[in-house]
Amino acid sequence: MATGIIGVGHYVPERVLTNFDLEEIVDTNDEWIRTRTGIETRHIADDGEDTSDMAYQAAVSALADADLEAKDLDLILVATITPDQPFPSVSCQIQDRLGASQAATMDISAACAGFMYGVITAKQFIEGGLYHNVLVIGAEKLSKITDWTDRNTCVLFGDGAGAAVVSSVSDDRGILSFELGADGSGGQALYQEDDKIRMNGREVFKFAVRQMPESSVKVVEKAGLQKEDVDYLIPHQANIRIMEAARNRLGISEDKMACSIKKYGNTSAASIPIALSEEVKAGKIKDGDHIVLVGFGGGLTWGAMAIRWGK
Ligand code: ACO
Repeated sequence: MATGIIGVGHYVPERVLTNFDLEEIVDTNDEWIRTRTGIETRHIADDGEDTSDMAYQAAVSALADADLEAKDLDLILVATITPDQPFPSVSCQIQDRLGASQAATMDISAACAGFMYGVITAKQFIEGGLYHNVLVIGAEKLSKITDWTDRNTCVLFGDGAGAAVVSSVSDDRGILSFELGADGSGGQALYQEDDKIRMNGREVFKFAVRQMPESSVKVVEKAGLQKEDVDYLIPHQANIRIMEAARNRLGISEDKMACSIKKYGNTSAASIPIALSEEVKAGKIKDGDHIVLVGFGGGLTWGAMAIRWGK
């Protein structure tokens, strides 16, 4: 048996903040944001809605898609840099709300690469024979650590959650290869201080346009595939220009790349599972397709994997 994703789900809050709304808050304009980032709107959670609330909605949807019940879960992993509070963890809150009494829990902090770290951690537990079904969630309420006076960052981020159930699949499906990495020396490029995100945009951009294409190609090669075999690319939705760098390096057409950044902005750990869930539910990813997931984030961290889709 191999390990793969057997169910996906996502959730975004109702409230939409447009680029035009942001023009009223900081010295920016729709044209600058669209052309430099690809973002047009982002969803922002209300005061009463926290990371765990969004994570819960995505989890319920992923469990239904996997045709599993909460009691079937052995482990819940939540990738987030914006937990409701330092402890109890979001994963413990989700375990309680789902009634997943058999599940162990753990939060993972790897910023935008967190979901990738989660899925690969799940794979190890499953292939070690310890667990059967692992729920991996990426959930963020970035709006609560966004500095709404800093135009360099506040235009980029949004809130939301995505989830996947990771489990055993047949031998000719599942995760074919992966790569996880980190470079702690780049920590000052993107960090939280005084409860706010601080970023050296140009440094992060330089790192990301190198790392995303490199990691994408690496996992394709490790999987024994050719670039032409890739049917779909799901990159972390940070900036359309960074995503395009990965797409061009793989030589795949525009319609074969998930692009939800326009609607949701950068939702950090939630961005890849939201995009994956949307594409699967839209019927764009089919049984047997080769897909590449790739992300990078604060830390600095990165992760990529190649999957042959299906159970
Ligand atoms: N509106 C208008 N002007 C702006 C805005 C804005 N919102 N933000 C910055 N500018 C200005 C700058 O002040 C600068 O003006 P100056 O030249 O007078 O100083 C000018 O626009 C150009 O700034 P640059 O930084 O060169 O713009 P760039 O083309 O690099 O785009 C951006 C900036 C979008 C932030 C880009 O660098 C980027 O996407 N970086 C990566 C960000 C990222 O991926 N972060 C990941 C976060 S993941 C995580 O772990 C949470």
